[in-house]
Amino acid sequence: MIDSVLSQTRTVIGRFPFPHWASVLLNNPIRRALERPDSTIDKIGLDGHEHVLELGPGPGFFSVPLAGRLPRGHLDLFDIQPGMLDRARRNLERAGHRNVGYHVGEADVELPFPDGAFDVAFLAEVIGEVSDKTACLRSLARVIKPGGVLVFREAFPDPDRLSVAELRKLAEPNDFAFADAIEGRWGDVVRFRRNHYGIQTKDI
Ligand SMILES: C[S@@+](CC[C@H](N)C(=O)[O-])C[C@H]1O[C@@H](n2cnc3c(N)ncnc32)[C@H](O)[C@@H]1O
Repeated sequence: MIDSVLSQTRTVIGRFPFPHWASVLLNNPIRRALERPDSTIDKIGLDGHEHVLELGPGPGFFSVPLAGRLPRGHLDLFDIQPGMLDRARRNLERAGHRNVGYHVGEADVELPFPDGAFDVAFLAEVIGEVSDKTACLRSLARVIKPGGVLVFREAFPDPDRLSVAELRKLAEPNDFAFADAIEGRWGDVVRFRRNHYGIQTKDI
């Protein structure tokens, strides 16, 4: 019921992507209290040295705690909407984070990063909005190092959220091995490991 109301609302306020002028719906104290972004970031399993790509960060709801977990690493944000990146930048700078790069572009076109540039890629409530999901996964497989980690956060009430089975169907044919799915009250954190060439591993 709430799902269908949200779906209708999004159809009225604008089709995909989620409009940057409505970013207050993504970054507010109520969502923070319910979704606890820190606990999602904990589940990625970072040690603080990684080079991380966050695709579709929006106004930076997860990016702020993510940047805080990378004292010796680096975070790159990539979003189709400059307005979202401006908001993310403001929020990150206000929180004192300088170890962040900002990139505008489309995730279903080739990502503008070198092969194997990242240890980790993180996507929260984004993949459902990407029109060519297979092209996006193929591009992620190129920019994540062999053995690196791909993490999806898919949560209620996002009307575009994908199930664990749908994520596996997308990721596994594109050189990722399913590692685990950590279920929470509001959604799942689903982790994949980028295959070493010819080797499929499930260990994170
Ligand atoms: C629903 S919002 C989620 C934002 C953030 N991850 C969060 O959970 O608060 C989806 C984000 O993905 C971005 N996005 C959608 N399609 C995209 C694409 N094809 N390439 C890059 N970013 C995209 C949107 O601009 C938006 O910032």
